[in-house]
Amino acid sequence: MLLTAQPLHPLFAVEISGLDLNRQVDDRQLAEFVALMGQHVVGVIRHARAFNDAQHVNFTRRLGPLQKMKMLTMVGNSKSRLSFPELIDVGNLDVDGKLLPDDDRRRAYGRGNLLWHTDVSFDANRATLSLLAAHRIPPEGADTEFADMRAAYDALSESMKQKVAALEVEHSIWYSRALAGMSDVSEAEKATRPASRHPLVHVHAGSGRKVLYLASHASHIVGWPIDEGRAFLAELMQHATQEQFVYRHRWQLHDLLIWDNLATMHRATPFDDTRYPRDMRRTTVLEHAEVG
Ligand code: OGA
Ligand code: MN
Repeated sequence: MLLTAQPLHPLFAVEISGLDLNRQVDDRQLAEFVALMGQHVVGVIRHARAFNDAQHVNFTRRLGPLQKMKMLTMVGNSKSRLSFPELIDVGNLDVDGKLLPDDDRRRAYGRGNLLWHTDVSFDANRATLSLLAAHRIPPEGADTEFADMRAAYDALSESMKQKVAALEVEHSIWYSRALAGMSDVSEAEKATRPASRHPLVHVHAGSGRKVLYLASHASHIVGWPIDEGRAFLAELMQHATQEQFVYRHRWQLHDLLIWDNLATMHRATPFDDTRYPRDMRRTTVLEHAEVG
């Protein structure tokens, strides 16, 4: 074993040691990392010193095809402050490193992360791993919470397991953004990200366990009356985010936090975001390479 894993929660989430993005990661380390993530689905690699964007992107490339930043163009044609299109800006800073104005649409968009979700479920091509790097953190608040959706599935009653077995769910980014209070979305913007449908239950490749695949993007159940589907999804959300399924991550500077979107949900928690800078950069691995 080249890497070691220290449990952070009784069900999932480990701190991984023996890997540092500032150093060459060899293929055996990479294989162990992938196996650990398959089993524990959330991992943190603490770094004593900063790694750079190229190291972050190049490491992620070895895990699969990457998502490219498209969101900024959809929320006001603003220029990214980050040098790689594969880095998703999850912070609250503008291109000059200043705090985003209170009424900036990117802020409204970012508030959607306060809702329990899993990345890119609104797309046919879903996210597998997300890797979030902490470049600047506020002195208090802004923890990130995770729920183990395999444990949530396992804890369902037998009759619930049967009920959810064959259901399909429609996911839309515009549904979750409306929930988060973002109201001024044009039809042209909506057209850039059409809804998509996924089974409510799937088997997680890394652990072979069944997963409840939910997210704030989950709008309704295909073939059910909208209200009835929403009420059922809300009930499942309540179930899945009970305390015993949740790990709360308290950030340290230069943490790299990795999670498997096909086995977890996560959410940001509040902080004084008009006062403190938070600089967070995410790479995202997709199920398939993007076309075009
Ligand atoms: C994300 C995300 C939560 C946070 O990067 O996908 O949801 O706490 N982040 O920044
Ligand atoms: Mn997210």
